[in-house]
Amino acid sequence: MKNARHFCWPVARRTLFMSPKSLTESASKGTCASVLPPLSDEASLYVHWPYCLKRCSYCNFNKYISRSVNHSAMTECLQRETETLLKLSRVSRITSVFFGGGTPSLAQPATIAAVLERVSQHAQLPEEAEVTLEVNPTPAGTSRLKDFIDAGINRLSIGVQSLNDEDLKLLGRDHSSQHALHTISEARRLCPGRVSVDVMFGRPGQSVASWETELEKLLAVCDHHVSLYQLTLERGTQLFKQVQRGELTMPTEDVTATMYMTARDILEMHGFRQYEVSNFARSGAVSEHNLGYWKGQQYIGVGPGAHGRFMPHLEGSVQREARTQTLEPDVWMSEVQKFGHATRRWISLSHLALLEEVLVMGLRMTDGITHQHWKLFSPSDNLHAVLGQSGDVQELQQRGLLILDDRGLRCSWEGLALLDSLLPTLLLQLETYVRSQGRRGNKDFIQPQHREGQQRR
Ligand SMILES: C[S@@+](CC[C@H](N)C(=O)[O-])C[C@H]1O[C@@H](n2cnc3c(N)ncnc32)[C@H](O)[C@@H]1O
Ligand code: SF4
Repeated sequence: MKNARHFCWPVARRTLFMSPKSLTESASKGTCASVLPPLSDEASLYVHWPYCLKRCSYCNFNKYISRSVNHSAMTECLQRETETLLKLSRVSRITSVFFGGGTPSLAQPATIAAVLERVSQHAQLPEEAEVTLEVNPTPAGTSRLKDFIDAGINRLSIGVQSLNDEDLKLLGRDHSSQHALHTISEARRLCPGRVSVDVMFGRPGQSVASWETELEKLLAVCDHHVSLYQLTLERGTQLFKQVQRGELTMPTEDVTATMYMTARDILEMHGFRQYEVSNFARSGAVSEHNLGYWKGQQYIGVGPGAHGRFMPHLEGSVQREARTQTLEPDVWMSEVQKFGHATRRWISLSHLALLEEVLVMGLRMTDGITHQHWKLFSPSDNLHAVLGQSGDVQELQQRGLLILDDRGLRCSWEGLALLDSLLPTLLLQLETYVRSQGRRGNKDFIQPQHREGQQRR
């Protein structure tokens, strides 16, 4: 069971199922110029704040520990890049905004307000649009929650990770369980019904019984949204080294699988509906922003290392691109100052690459991929034609892991826990089908230096 491992958002980090290399490969292989991604004048916006106070022992996100952050330069650059990419995408409406990190609760509320203001100057940002801030539950972040809400934030996602103080220390967190409980209560007071908590399981030394107790304790105080992540051991992190040296032991796969299944049951008993591999909501409090990723909607990524998926309006361009911004904050800033943005890499997504993403992301949702959803991306070939004829796919259905019916394609309850192992079969069948339709390759653009191609944008 590996699916519940962390899958956070458009920021440079290991991609869950496709490495940038495999994405590039499929982007460059099968495409058909006559098949376009759905045209939309809407997108969501992801804004990356790259700084943290401290390095957590397990984290390999794009984050930097800096003593002196130039807030005014960061604000100007985030605003400028937002404006440039909004113009390039020609979207007229931003449906949701997500400030992620790093630790965006270390940014100044004025920065958040300034970015939102710039969005509103160039696109419609509806009053009711979801605007989320990731919050580390430290006293510094918590004391400014009200200011963030005044700046335009209307949803808070709190990185609780654990309610066990020993484990929080081991993970290198700079908060205690007391801090986490206080932040949850403050957040719920200020933003009732719109508070989410992130919690990790599969931690070194953790038992199923202690996990159950901890989750029950969290559910007694939390609001209507929980994100549950299996701790992933990332190469290069301190935790990875500690495990390699034999100082710490990770739970076995069987134990983490049991933890995941137990958590799903407990959450359900508390009225939470699982709507994605790692996400649970009650009273309909789903994350609209994240649903957009899983439904293959366009998003613009702003800030160091942010990822985006949108169709730039350039001469002759008719395809959605996978775009990544420059990773390192100082380099990112100087490129934004020079070019208006710091897109480091962009790849035209072929028809095949786009469908791969729709499949991989869509199957993470419990509702899966409806026929209408698939048709937006593949008007001429329906799910039955693409996948239904394969003996291997039929076998997954017979084993009760996958459902392909009048609604569309989705995993069963058991299948969702095994999604990683189902995907190779599905992706192979998709590729075989698309290639059998005789679709051809397309170009990638990888621009290590900002020269002509970059200025074009
Ligand atoms: C990158 S963090 C950013 C938010 C904030 N800085 C924090 O740490 O709470 C977003 C979420 O990713 C999850 N995460 C990060 N690294 C992970 C890992 N190695 N395995 C599983 N989940 C991870 C944590 O649950 C965290 O809340
Ligand atoms: S605070 Fe969050 S982003 Fe920063 S190092 Fe820790 S887990 Fe990573």
